[in-house]
Amino acid sequence: MTDAATLASLIQSRAGADPVALGLVLGSGLGHLAHEVKGVAIPYADLPGFPHVGVSGHNPQLHIGTLEGVRVAVFGAREHYYENGNPRAMLLPLQVLKALGAADLILTNAAGSLRADIAPGDLMLLGDHINYSGLNPLIGEKTDARFVPMTDAHDPGLRASLKAAAARQDLPLPEGVYCWYSGPSFETPAEIRMLKLLGGDAVGMSTVPEVILARFLGLKVAAISTITNMAAGMSDEKIGHEHTKAMAPLGAAKLERILREFLRTRR
Ligand code: HPA
Repeated sequence: MTDAATLASLIQSRAGADPVALGLVLGSGLGHLAHEVKGVAIPYADLPGFPHVGVSGHNPQLHIGTLEGVRVAVFGAREHYYENGNPRAMLLPLQVLKALGAADLILTNAAGSLRADIAPGDLMLLGDHINYSGLNPLIGEKTDARFVPMTDAHDPGLRASLKAAAARQDLPLPEGVYCWYSGPSFETPAEIRMLKLLGGDAVGMSTVPEVILARFLGLKVAAISTITNMAAGMSDEKIGHEHTKAMAPLGAAKLERILREFLRTRR
């Protein structure tokens, strides 16, 4: 397999060698922002070892360039655990991000809400998470580096900056606990009642493995969910992937405003 340093050189030969400041992973239905990056888009297929993402509504390209004057690497798609049963599918892309110079990573996803006061179309900043899948992308790592502390895994500084950016845009950005369920089937209403008892505020099928991998690599990380539905059993709406894709753009416009504002403060 091609290593991260080789892939980083390949990317730099196409996108220029200026260091990247920040990485951004776009979730289901949130791909629009990738096309706003002024720079180049490299299909994952040109990057050996990058995931073959087969989830509709995702854009498997790496966009390198500037957004609001900040040099960024935007991953238009992620591989989810449920695609091939590989919790470390995003390890190589994140190693490449680090090799490109990035210190910070912002993850986004679509999620179901467990809270009556967080509705479809709203956003939620992850203050913490519950790895309910029990899976871990670091299983098989051989060194002591695998014992990654997860206190403040969701970086307090990045979270404060994102909250400040949201406030300047007059957009609510409540903080909550995200629960990772493997998917691809959605949760049952009984599972959702359980997750609420356990302290969850939102549920989704991604992000937690990337948070763990980011901390393993020493990247600072924060994540924002766009709420596409009330979780199973909480409303009469029909939950499904089509619904997720249809609803994600509602939150995506707000997410874009917050991310642009956040980036402007980093110029
Ligand atoms: N559950 C899991 N993943 C999701 C949901 C949900 O309700 N909505 C969007 N992604």
